[in-house]
Amino acid sequence: MVSTHPPGTQYSGTKYLPKANNNDPKISPNQQLLPLTAKVNSRDCLEIGGCDVTTLVEQFGSPLYILDEETLRTACRQYRDTFKQYYPGQSQVLYASKAWSCVAVCAIAASEGLGIDVVSGGELYTALTAGVSPELIYFHGNNKSLAELVLALESGCTIVVDNWYELKTLVKLAQEKSLSDIPIMLRLTPGIECHTHEYIRTGHLDSKFGFDPNDLDQLFTFVKQQSVLNCVGLHAHIGSQIFERQPHRDLAGVMVQWLSKAGEYGLSITQLNVGGGLGIKYTESDDPPSIEEWVKPICEVIQESCSAANLPLPKLLCEPGRSLIATSCVTAYTIGSSKLVPDIRTYVSVDGGMSDNPRPITYQSLYLSVVANRMSEPLTETVAVAGKHCESGDIVIKHAHLPKTEPGDILVVIGTGAYNYSMASNYNRLPRPAAVIVANGEANLILQRETYEDLIGKDCLPERLKI
Ligand code: LLP
Repeated sequence: MVSTHPPGTQYSGTKYLPKANNNDPKISPNQQLLPLTAKVNSRDCLEIGGCDVTTLVEQFGSPLYILDEETLRTACRQYRDTFKQYYPGQSQVLYASKAWSCVAVCAIAASEGLGIDVVSGGELYTALTAGVSPELIYFHGNNKSLAELVLALESGCTIVVDNWYELKTLVKLAQEKSLSDIPIMLRLTPGIECHTHEYIRTGHLDSKFGFDPNDLDQLFTFVKQQSVLNCVGLHAHIGSQIFERQPHRDLAGVMVQWLSKAGEYGLSITQLNVGGGLGIKYTESDDPPSIEEWVKPICEVIQESCSAANLPLPKLLCEPGRSLIATSCVTAYTIGSSKLVPDIRTYVSVDGGMSDNPRPITYQSLYLSVVANRMSEPLTETVAVAGKHCESGDIVIKHAHLPKTEPGDILVVIGTGAYNYSMASNYNRLPRPAAVIVANGEANLILQRETYEDLIGKDCLPERLKI
């Protein structure tokens, strides 16, 4: 076992605590590792939202998603208020609920004045159940089913139309149902490259999403003729976990050109949605821009470009997912067995893995961890944190720097709020973990732990197969 720390230095898990305390209104959650309320208490245990993480595990079981309300609300407010500060026109921040869709999270985002971006009937149903007003819901997706389109029409949300097939289907549906004035946006593929994982890049021309901007003439002509549709805006999203600032500046400029073109076709489009994509700090070397550093240049470019093109300012929307929620959540696991492979590595296994966090195996994503009951102990070991699935690739963290651990210790993986629960599965028939929200020393369940009954709840055994 080789530690990669410089000799003579002794680091501990406390180095991942927030740099400034949470009274600093400028602290951008996406630039922190642990949630904003993270502290170490007198028992040397990690505390989040005033709750001792080891006690939470005793109370709610393991593995456990722990969501810090203050970190989530801070991110929501920073997005909302930064737009208000730098953009003189109207603005609306949407939460991309694909990052973590559940009723409680949608309710929190909405209570902070955010709208919700949904990409399926299920996400739409979740947002509506949370009480989100349909005027603040935007329905995306490159292959919405007929049933999903009907649900969208009935709910009154805005449909972000992705392609010709959907556009024509929608016109037909609206005519059949004698509906008019259906609010839609058009999603376009801007052809802007950004440096992120290939699977999470969506704005380059070779993408399954959106209309080709080369078809704008045809598209605007068609939309103008459809009296059943009310095209309120244009949308683009270029990718996720982006640290560069230039791609979104470029995008803002390109979108104003599209807006100007729409005017030539007599369409009065009043909204531009620049998508999401701001990255977060997963590891010590990750250095994403702050929320303000992301929002401000977008606002500036839209204003400059509109003024140059002599256009009124559109309502400006964006739809972050990861940077709103990732840092607010950690996953607590219980350590079990370990295995030393001489001269190679030690595997330390936890009671979850690729079913509650498929990101490492899917995107080779890196995570940091701390041992919640040994926060100040020196990080003397470098181990592979293994999941419990029947799959060699089920490694949560390949090179984790940890103190010496024992079975029963609580390992906490940092930054798991985005695309963990939402991409979780029941692989190997593991029940999905519970999730709690913590604030001011109180913890409340927001997702119950699945049970074995839940796992077989939808199984059917035809009579002739009974043994
Ligand atoms: N809007 C649209 C149309 C999107 O497709 C996405 C993400 C977002 C907004 C939110 O992007 P964010 O702010 O979270 O970067 N499962 C992958 C991420 C896939 C992102 C898909 N689209 C991961 O775990 O990294």
